[in-house]
Amino acid sequence: MDGNGRWAEGRGVPRSAGHRAGGRAVERVVTAAPAAGIRVLTLYAFSSDNWSRPMPEVATLMHLFAGYLRSERERAVANGVAIEVLGRRDRLSEALRREITATEAATAGGARLLLRLAVDYSARDALLGAAHLVAEETAPPDRARFADLVALATHGRPGTPPVDLLIRTGGEQRLSDFLLWECAYAELFFLDLMWPEFSPGVLDDVLARFRTRERRFGALPASASRGHLHLIRR
Ligand code: FPP
Repeated sequence: MDGNGRWAEGRGVPRSAGHRAGGRAVERVVTAAPAAGIRVLTLYAFSSDNWSRPMPEVATLMHLFAGYLRSERERAVANGVAIEVLGRRDRLSEALRREITATEAATAGGARLLLRLAVDYSARDALLGAAHLVAEETAPPDRARFADLVALATHGRPGTPPVDLLIRTGGEQRLSDFLLWECAYAELFFLDLMWPEFSPGVLDDVLARFRTRERRFGALPASASRGHLHLIRR
């Protein structure tokens, strides 16, 4: 969700206004996601490296996260949205931790959409955590087991799905320590628009482009695996 700051600067308003506009974009996208066929949506809200931002900006973001969880809880339950928060909790305020616990408990039964908010999240730290857990395993883990260890290190539960589609707004083309294991075969889309400009229409457009991508997972294209008959026809 990159570009809140530049969106604000472009309008001559404080960065905090950009983050609030980003919060409204979150609400629009979460509302639209189930009908667009999305079952799991992970939003990168605050990376572990974002602690290096000025304290007033960090405080604004933490306040927004707590407010979002508090105000969206009931709507999430009504709409079948389960909310879970990824990342470290020990550096979050007691008040934010309380909102997270209450929201996760209240929305746990949601079956239409799993909304995962990454707060104080670092993929490299999750991989380090998983590597520590390997020491407790009785045998070297295979990929499926290691994926569970990464999930355990990320949010205390196994079963994180691989990412199919990753969208980054704000014009930068990098992953910035986000879901590095889970994105092994993700299709990447980098958009020049700023996060507050993201809308359900943009999501639909990206999904349409995603559906045209041939996902080969290292295998040959479907046409090539049909063999020489295909070549003769051409
Ligand atoms: C990166 O853009 C964005 C963030 C570090 C914060 C993302 C937070 C929100 C969208 C607020 C609402 C979120 C929830 C879950 C309610 P940036 O500020 O670094 O933008 P810039 O690169 O233009 O400066």
